[in-house]
Amino acid sequence: MPERVAIILAAGVSSRMNTQLPKVLHEVCGRPMLAYVLDACRGVGVQKLYVVVGFGGDEVEEAFQGTDDIVWVKQTEQRGTAHAVLSCKQYLKDFQGQTLVLCGDGPLVRAEMLQTLIGKHEMERAAATLATAVLDDPTGYGRIVRDRYGNIQGIVEDANCAREQLAIREVNPSYYLFNNQILFEAAEQVEPDNVKHEYYLTDAVSRIIATGHKVVAVTAVRPEEAVGVNSRAQLSVASKIMQRRIQQELMDYGVTIVDPDTTWIDARAKIGLDTVIEPFTYIHGEVRIGGGCRVGPFAYLRSGTVLEDDVVLGVFTEIKNSTLAEGVRARHHSYIGDANVGRNVNVGAGSITANFDGQKVNKTYIGDNCYVGSGAILIAPLVLKDGSHIAAGTVVSQESIDELGRKE
Ligand code: UD1
Ligand code: CA
Repeated sequence: MPERVAIILAAGVSSRMNTQLPKVLHEVCGRPMLAYVLDACRGVGVQKLYVVVGFGGDEVEEAFQGTDDIVWVKQTEQRGTAHAVLSCKQYLKDFQGQTLVLCGDGPLVRAEMLQTLIGKHEMERAAATLATAVLDDPTGYGRIVRDRYGNIQGIVEDANCAREQLAIREVNPSYYLFNNQILFEAAEQVEPDNVKHEYYLTDAVSRIIATGHKVVAVTAVRPEEAVGVNSRAQLSVASKIMQRRIQQELMDYGVTIVDPDTTWIDARAKIGLDTVIEPFTYIHGEVRIGGGCRVGPFAYLRSGTVLEDDVVLGVFTEIKNSTLAEGVRARHHSYIGDANVGRNVNVGAGSITANFDGQKVNKTYIGDNCYVGSGAILIAPLVLKDGSHIAAGTVVSQESIDELGRKE
C-alpha cells in the first residue's frame, strides 16, 4: 500500500468573510472548520498532515496544540493554491507516495468520500484524481471541463469561465489526490495568468493533463458535501448541513430528537440511549448526557455539563459546568452552574445557583435526595448535606447553614 500524506490549504486571508479570526478557526457546530478536515484525512489513514497557514497562522497552530500528526507550513505571501502547495516542497520533494490536497474551508468532507477517491485513483492508476460534485447552482466553483468522450480537459475557475462554461454543473470541491512527484512538478510550472495573478492549483491539474498523464474524476461528492466556506452565509449553510449529520447520527444510535429543525447539538456532545431531546434545545460545547433523560423544551446546556441517567430538565433550564447525578429533576426555569448535584435531587421552579461573586466562580455541592423548593437562591460556595430540605424562596449561603448547625 502506498504511503499517503495530506496537504491542507489554510493560509488564505478570507476577505469574503470579513473577519479578524483566521477563517479555518470559525466554528461549525462548535468545532473549528479545520478540525473536520483533519479528521476526514485521519479517517483514511493519513498519518502526516501538512497544514499550510499564513494569515493568523500562529493562532491556528495554537488552537490545535498537542496534535502531533500535524506539520505546520508557513506560506508568508498568499499567492494562490498552487503556491500554497509549493510551500510544502521542503518537506515533500522526495516523497514518492500519494498526496491528498484539501482546503481548510471545506469542513463537510467525509472520510467515506475520500475512500472512494482513493479507490478510484488506485484502480485507474491515475496521476491525479478529483472528486467532483454536480450542483444545481454551480456559481462560484471551478468547473470541470470534459471532452465529448468524458475525459477531463481541465478545471476553469468561475471568474475565468467562458459563457457556455458557466452552464457546466459539475464542479471542483477541491478534493484531490495526486501522485506526489507529479503534483510538485506541475505546480512549479503554473503561471499566474489570470485576473487575480494567482498561482492556481487547478492550473496544475491542467498541466498534468497536458503532459500526458492520466487524470480522472469521480463524481463521488454529494452536493451538500461540496460546500466551501468563503462567506458567513456559507458558514451558516455548512453549519446547518453539519447539524443534520450530527442529529442523524444520534438518531441512528437511539436518541429521540423531537424536532430537528429547532434543536442544535454541538459536534462534541455525547448523548445516551433513549434520551429525548425536546424542541428548542441548544446543546453547546462538551456536554455528556446519559440514557433515559428528557431535555427541554427550551433547555440550554453549556460546556462541562454532565447529566447521568434519567435526568429530567424542563423549560428554560440552563446548566453549565455541572454534574447532575441520576434522577435529578429541574423542570422549570433554573440555572445550575459549577455545581455537583446528587442523586434524585429535586430543583424547584426558578431556583438558581449564584455561582459568581463578582470576582470568581464558586462551586455548589448538593447532596443526594435534597429538595430545593421553588425560587431558592443557593449562594456558592455552598455545601448542602444529603437529604437537605430548602424551603421555597430561601436565600441560602454557607454562613446561614453553619449558623443553623450551631443552633441545632
Ligand atoms: C477553490 C478552487 C475552486 C474550487 C473551490 C472549492 C482554486 C484556484 N480554486 O476556489 O476551483 O471550486 O476552491 O471550494 O484552487 N489558500 C492558501 N493560500 C493561498 C490561497 C488560498 O492557503 O495563497 C487556501 C485558502 O485558505 C482556502 C483554500 O486555499 O482554504 C482555497 O482558497 P480559496 O481562495 O477559498 O479558493 P476558492 O475561490 O474557494
Ligand atoms: Ca474556498
